[in-house]
Amino acid sequence: MGCVAVEDLSQGMVLSEDVRDIHCRLLLSRGQVISEKHLRILKIWGVCAVNVVGSPKGAEDASETLDPERMARTQAITDQVFRHLDTGHETIQGIYQEALAYRYAHPGAAFPGERWSAAGLKGATVDADSIRTRISTVDLKLPDAPPIISELNAVIADPFATSNDVARVVNKSPALAALLLRIVNSAYYGFPSKIDRITRAVTIIGTKEISSLALGICVMRTFKDIPAELIDMAAFIRHSLACGLLARMIAAQKNLPETEQLSVAGLLHDMGKLIIFKYYPGPAAAAHAHAAAAGCTVYQSERSLFGIDHTQVAKHLLQKWKIPPVLANSIIHHHHPSAAQDVTKAVIVQMADIIANGLGLGTSGELAIPAFDDKAWDGLGIAACNINWVIRQAIHQLGALDITLV
Ligand SMILES: [Fe+2]
Ligand SMILES: [Fe+2]
Repeated sequence: MGCVAVEDLSQGMVLSEDVRDIHCRLLLSRGQVISEKHLRILKIWGVCAVNVVGSPKGAEDASETLDPERMARTQAITDQVFRHLDTGHETIQGIYQEALAYRYAHPGAAFPGERWSAAGLKGATVDADSIRTRISTVDLKLPDAPPIISELNAVIADPFATSNDVARVVNKSPALAALLLRIVNSAYYGFPSKIDRITRAVTIIGTKEISSLALGICVMRTFKDIPAELIDMAAFIRHSLACGLLARMIAAQKNLPETEQLSVAGLLHDMGKLIIFKYYPGPAAAAHAHAAAAGCTVYQSERSLFGIDHTQVAKHLLQKWKIPPVLANSIIHHHHPSAAQDVTKAVIVQMADIIANGLGLGTSGELAIPAFDDKAWDGLGIAACNINWVIRQAIHQLGALDITLV
């Protein structure tokens, strides 16, 4: 079995997995022999890659030309990234193998360890008491929601909202509208013809999907001016978009109806880190430096230094800005899905985060993948091979997507 980009797919190839669109409607069934008509269907519905029976062309040749030294280096990095996870777990083992292959082929895949262990330690002082005083549930001062966020919340909550209602709100911010159209026109959605208006995007993708995506982008844009020496914002956005895409695709594997919620929850899952970086830059640097020195995750480091972590920090802003609870649930509990009201959605976001960190699809500054809630995940019953398929499809769809929030 192999993953083939739709542009490389030829008539006569046989699907080894069902193919679904972004709303998880079944397009073609496993076992289908591909004809010209099927190629058209896949392009119309924005499918970028499918799994076919047999190895994709060139796969065997590639394994023969592996450079042993480069593979050893890649393996050492991948082992570091996975060091807190049980690679004996079938799904994690599959992700590890995908990560190894991806990192070998993309040596620039994110590994922010050096940045924080060298530069971070010099600039950061770890004074736990003063940090705890600054970041506490009482002391946390967060900005009011920009008016556009309240308007998007209202559109999302309105079951009768039309494409014109969404467009009226989104078009108030030309920068938001332009960014939204850029994402919608990228391989992230994979539509073959250009979508040039918000109303058209809503018609094709859906009212809730577009208004939720607009909401996610608005929240991220609030933090667009964090200094570059603190965080690589482009890498952070890539990590966030990758999580959104992966969460949507994993949700489709479970036939969940509201994949757009998962997409936006994935996009915003680490927004608490942005809040800490923006309003508490010193403690943020300290948390990363402490994680590098102690060999723990940034999440653990935040808890031990601040007594509060980025998910709890995010909770305050989500409540203050009245972000729909269905989105907040998965964001707040992405490190402890079992504690969530909706365990399924929270563990899907956690799995998306594990994959994005594992492969180095951007970074939010983690040096290693945080602990995995295997019991919550196993309850979902998604086969490990399906996750491998999701990873390959997501790599295609994420492609060279390079988004800035200006
Ligand atoms: Fe996180
Ligand atoms: Fe993350």
